[in-house]
Amino acid sequence: MPAARDDTHFGRRAVRLDEKQGLVNEVFHSVAGRYDLMNDLMSFGLHRMWKDALVAKVRPSPTRPFAHLDVAGGTGDVAMRVAAAGGPLTVVTVVDVNGDMLSVAKERAAKRSFSKRLTFIEGNAEALRLPDSHFDAYTIAFGIRNVPRIEDALKEAHRVLKRGGRFLCLEFSRVDLPVFDRIYDAYSFAAIPVLGKAVTGDGGAYRYLVESIRKFPSPDRFAEMIAEAGFARVDFTRLSGGIVAIHSGWKI
Ligand SMILES: C[S@@+](CC[C@H](N)C(=O)[O-])C[C@H]1O[C@@H](n2cnc3c(N)ncnc32)[C@H](O)[C@@H]1O
Repeated sequence: MPAARDDTHFGRRAVRLDEKQGLVNEVFHSVAGRYDLMNDLMSFGLHRMWKDALVAKVRPSPTRPFAHLDVAGGTGDVAMRVAAAGGPLTVVTVVDVNGDMLSVAKERAAKRSFSKRLTFIEGNAEALRLPDSHFDAYTIAFGIRNVPRIEDALKEAHRVLKRGGRFLCLEFSRVDLPVFDRIYDAYSFAAIPVLGKAVTGDGGAYRYLVESIRKFPSPDRFAEMIAEAGFARVDFTRLSGGIVAIHSGWKI
């Protein structure tokens, strides 16, 4: 049966749109403390390379003021990379709906002396409490898949970017290489929840991860959604055989 307009998915489960955010929040509340370790283990460290590739596209200015927004910023991985790549006038605002993830981010930023250039806001990607046309670039890494109303988040991204600003999204995508797709599926469904249970105590959180990746729109459809939100010159790059993709669009 097709999903009703107010329905969405939480992993494989059909849920009401207004139910999903609470379920997602439980997942990240449960894994926040061991989130970074788990990322390294399950991706064999590859998530670092994917985030480097994302930040290479941001290209914050080393000399001029650069206002960056990282939404669903979690433990601050992308925000700190942007701050490190930019100059002293690069400032990064990190928005995440989950205070537990932001607490880890704040601690990490303080240890790396980035606190002065990073601002943390607990808030929702669907309704940013931020001014219009303010940011030079917007990133969202492994976040958009968790947002119940993706269209609203994309419209908000467009609203808060300056003209000439760039939207960049790093997200799990579709592996479409024969044989590798079956190995990847077997690894995802059999190993990741078991690893998640062993490391974080919550296998269900990582089952949600694997299932939600399969429910996310195809890279072509997601590119259309970005264009529908008003972005121009939308394109995407697949990395690591399509395990992830980086989508990009410009506000012109
Ligand atoms: C998989 S983590 C990604 C964290 C970080 N960007 C990274 O790449 O390591 C997903 C993050 O999205 C956040 N999130 C989920 N729904 C959100 C929403 N509606 N608005 C803002 N953040 C959200 C979660 O709290 C979580 O921190």
